[in-house]
Amino acid sequence: MDYTLIQRAAKDILNSKKTIAFTGAGISVESGIPDFRSAGGLWEKFDPEEYAHIYAFHSNPEKVWMMLKDMFSLIMEAKPNPAHIGLAELERMGYLSSVITQNVDGLHQAAGNHHVIEFHGTHRTLSCLKCSTTIDGTSLKMEDLPPRCSRCSSLLKPDVVFFGEPIPWEAQVSSLKESKSCTAVLVIGTSAVVYPAASIPVTAKERGATIIEINMEPTPLTNVISDYLILGSAGEIIPAIVEEVKRQR
Ligand code: APR
Repeated sequence: MDYTLIQRAAKDILNSKKTIAFTGAGISVESGIPDFRSAGGLWEKFDPEEYAHIYAFHSNPEKVWMMLKDMFSLIMEAKPNPAHIGLAELERMGYLSSVITQNVDGLHQAAGNHHVIEFHGTHRTLSCLKCSTTIDGTSLKMEDLPPRCSRCSSLLKPDVVFFGEPIPWEAQVSSLKESKSCTAVLVIGTSAVVYPAASIPVTAKERGATIIEINMEPTPLTNVISDYLILGSAGEIIPAIVEEVKRQR
C-alpha cells in the first residue's frame, strides 16, 4: 500500500466540498462474495450470457436460479468488511455525501451508510414478471429458493438489474445528480467495464472532480479518468484513508 497516496487521498477528501463513493464487487470480496471478473469470479462459473441476461430468465428461470442460489447463499452469510465500515465512518464524520454502488448485497446499508444508490438494484426484494407481485426477500432462507409467486406461482425474479434491463429510473437520476455535483469520487473495487455505471466517474471528472481509484489492478479508468490509483485491497486501504483523515483534519 503506497502510504504517500493514502496521505494524498486523505488531503483530497478534506479539501473536497462533496465526496461520493462509486463501488463495485471488489469491495465485497473481503466479505466472502467473489467478484465477477477476477479469477474464480462468478462469471468464470456461470456464463453471463446464459445466466445473467433478462432473456435467459424469461426462457429458463429454473436454470438462472442455479446461479442466483449461488449468489444468494453468499450474500445471506456476508457481513460488512472494514472497507464498508470505513465508508460509513466517513459519512458519519461528514466527509462522504453518498455511495453509488453496483452491488446488490446491501452491505453499505448494513455498515451504516444512509445515502446509498443501488445502481443495479437489490437482492432484498423479488418480483413476479407475470403479475407484478413484489415480496420482501430479506427473510428468505436457502430452503425457500427459488421462491414462487403466491398469486400465479411463477418463479419470482430478484430486483437486480440483469443485462438487457434498464437501470432503475430513480437510481439513474440521483446518480447523475451526485456525479455532476461532487468534487471527489472514491472509485472502489470495480473493473469499470459495464455501462452506464462506469460513466459515473467519467461524468464527475468532466466537471473537474478528483477521481481516486482504489483497486487490485489497473482498469480502463486508470491514467485516463482517475487522478491516481491506490493499488491494493479495499479492506486495508479504506481504513488507512479514514485514519489519515482523522490525523490530518
Ligand atoms: N479490493 C479492491 N479491489 C478488488 C478487491 C479488493 N479486495 N477484490 C477484487 N477487486 C477488484 C478486481 O481486481 C476488479 O477490478 O474489483 C474489480 C471487480 O470487477 P468486477 O468483478 O468486474 O465487478 P464490477 O466492476 O462490480 O462489475 C460491474 O458487471 O456483471 C456485472 O452487474 C454486474 O454490477 C456488476 C457489473
